[in-house]
Amino acid sequence: MASSTDLSRINESSDTGKQQNRVVAEEEWLQKWEANNIGFHNEQGHPLLKKHLDLLLNGRSGLRIFFPLCGKAVEMKWLADMGHNVIGVEFSEQALKDFFTEQNLSYSEESIPEISKAKVFKSTSGNISLYCCSIYDLSSKIAGKFDGIWDRGALVAVNPCDRERYANLMLSLMDKNCSYLLATVSYDPNKYKGLKGSATSS
Ligand SMILES: C[S@@+](CC[C@H](N)C(=O)[O-])C[C@H]1O[C@@H](n2cnc3c(N)ncnc32)[C@H](O)[C@@H]1O
Repeated sequence: MASSTDLSRINESSDTGKQQNRVVAEEEWLQKWEANNIGFHNEQGHPLLKKHLDLLLNGRSGLRIFFPLCGKAVEMKWLADMGHNVIGVEFSEQALKDFFTEQNLSYSEESIPEISKAKVFKSTSGNISLYCCSIYDLSSKIAGKFDGIWDRGALVAVNPCDRERYANLMLSLMDKNCSYLLATVSYDPNKYKGLKGSATSS
């Protein structure tokens, strides 16, 4: 699990060659969702979250748990069913609507006065709120602070040039006793061209 100190020291020394300049634009992500080219989505949920759930929850109940770059991660439903409040952010409206439909959850949508053209989708039960906007438009003033963060397919999907900005934003969203559970990958970027950026921490 990453501590806040680890987060602010994301080491990109292994991101050599093409990876360092990799930029995936919003439009490319939206096209992936439209074409159902979403190999990153795991219908079974992520085994590492199940395995390390205790580290995230640390015996606490009724937490506010954040899913950055959430896609339609089924783990959001798991945690909401356990009685936690789940907050996600994702710029594909299709992903968020698919999440509610596939999980058989009714929802409403509201605009967000602080962010032009953004929306928040809220489950009727009230414990899932998914912001449809760029993560860089969010702040603790808008979304509050979090007790737990499940970061899977988020830090690794952030363009390397934005990683420091991302890390600073995440630090600003963490409440005092926040647990940050990070699933990341480490590989030789010269041998693999994928959307997931290798991210190691020192
Ligand atoms: C690799 S996928 C991971 C999705 C999810 N975390 C999961 O585990 O299935 C990354 C997601 O982040 C979204 N995304 C990428 N950059 C974003 C940004 N700046 N703000 C909001 N969403 C973003 C993409 O549309 C995509 O759905």
